[in-house]
Amino acid sequence: MVPLKRRRVAGSNSEADGAGEAPPPARFPRVLLFLLERKMGASRRAFLTQLGRRKGFRVEESFSQSITHVICENNSGDEVRTWLNSQHRAQGGAPLHLLDISWFTESMHAGHPVPVLDRHKLQEQQIDEAEVVVCSVPSYACQRRTTLDNNNTILTDALSLLAENAELCDQDGRGVAFRRAAAVLKALPKAVTCMTQLRGLPCLGEHSLRVIKDILDNGASSEVESLKQCERYKARKVLTGVFGVGAKTADRWIREGIHTLHQLRNSGHTLNRDQQAGVEHYDDLNQPVSKAEADAIEEIVAKAVVSVSPGAQITLTGGFRRGKLTGHDVDFLITHPEEGMEEGLMSKVVSWLESQGFLLYQKTTRNSYLESKDGPARITSNMDRFERCFSIFKLAKEDKREEKQFVPDVSREDGGLAEIKPAGHKPWRAVRVDLVVSPFSQFAFALLGWTGSKLFERELRRLAGQEKAMSLNSHALYDSTQQRYLRATSEQEIFAHLGLEYIPPSERNA
Ligand code: UTP
Ligand code: MN
Repeated sequence: MVPLKRRRVAGSNSEADGAGEAPPPARFPRVLLFLLERKMGASRRAFLTQLGRRKGFRVEESFSQSITHVICENNSGDEVRTWLNSQHRAQGGAPLHLLDISWFTESMHAGHPVPVLDRHKLQEQQIDEAEVVVCSVPSYACQRRTTLDNNNTILTDALSLLAENAELCDQDGRGVAFRRAAAVLKALPKAVTCMTQLRGLPCLGEHSLRVIKDILDNGASSEVESLKQCERYKARKVLTGVFGVGAKTADRWIREGIHTLHQLRNSGHTLNRDQQAGVEHYDDLNQPVSKAEADAIEEIVAKAVVSVSPGAQITLTGGFRRGKLTGHDVDFLITHPEEGMEEGLMSKVVSWLESQGFLLYQKTTRNSYLESKDGPARITSNMDRFERCFSIFKLAKEDKREEKQFVPDVSREDGGLAEIKPAGHKPWRAVRVDLVVSPFSQFAFALLGWTGSKLFERELRRLAGQEKAMSLNSHALYDSTQQRYLRATSEQEIFAHLGLEYIPPSERNA
């Protein structure tokens, strides 16, 4: 292929133009440039700064309110927007152009600022004006308050589906990008009705914007609609819906032509213990758990905990602590105010539950976290090392727990009522329950880590690392600058260590 030569703008004569002369001071007073060093590199930035100044451009060393043009090289619009938001540029400043290096190069050739064309802009080419208003939505989800009142469910459902699909395809990076975009929309106070309302918002990449535009223009995203019909996607969803089956296993089976539960059962594959339980209780486990069911399970677990260790405490975490009305499982955190008393607690609780016939399945993993050995930086993002029990509860159906349901009994002449006992329906259902035991000294970190949402947690860790040189996980917070652990006995203290405003659980639904 013949490389495209950059077209020289008529009338330009860059070599002769102003070479050797004193820099003409500020020939274009209304244009104030800032060259972003990120990915451009310090030496190239210094070279381009010199070049620009020789041509009579004002090039600033640091970013400020008065900058009119930000010049970037090899950065995506999304990356630059994130950087820009971290600059806390107030609204109402000068209109700002976010431009690719091509605008700078062409302007140098032309000897004057060339008009800003769509191809120079980093992002939002669909917007007519070049102006980008920086909105006040902060870029990290943990800096925002996200309640369950979502004004943009149509858009966020579509983006979440794409995120889920990316995760099912083992493309976590793409998944996170869609999740971040969805989270920004969840935090908006109003429904989005046109693309211009998205100007200046962080985390909205090109792909997410395309999906949003499709929905706003056509009522639905063609990409999402065709994904929903895609056989491979449907098969991945069914198979990963089996407890104990991840994206890789599902894909291996799909390659063998297994697309349904029926085909899996008849495939002759030896399933591990998790997967056997997953197949056996498939329908129940894919039925959302209600808050009432979570409360009923909390009562049972609390009874177990108090029976085996009277001083121990239990807290409902996960989505239900954030106020969700349904969940895919129920999460509990157990601790004892006397450090050390939590040791051996899990096996006792599990034995108690088993002896009472509450467990259909359980797998307990031991606590393997040792601060002195591991340090928080050693633990990968959302893996923790608490003593943990993955279980499947056998929960009596609501009508079996409390008031029974009655219907008129036609066989009785007095027109009395008979209890409903649907034929073939079992009187209980299976529910996934996660039990986690934390030493009291790590309780605040465990509580924060297990309350979610997953994106909120991920963003807390990202902010800790990228903005604070700290390392956060469900066990501890380490400050790399001070080279010490920062202790906390409450979630509030952890937010304070991170320089964040406290966000209560009900507003962590990012
Ligand atoms: P869940 O997966 O249970 O999510 O993890 P959820 O928010 O409760 O949502 P549903 O309603 O059940 O679908 C709860 C929290 O526990 C953390 C997750 O990061 C999330 O914040 N978690 C989960 C861990 O820290 N480690 C794990 O191994 C699993
Ligand atoms: Mn949960």
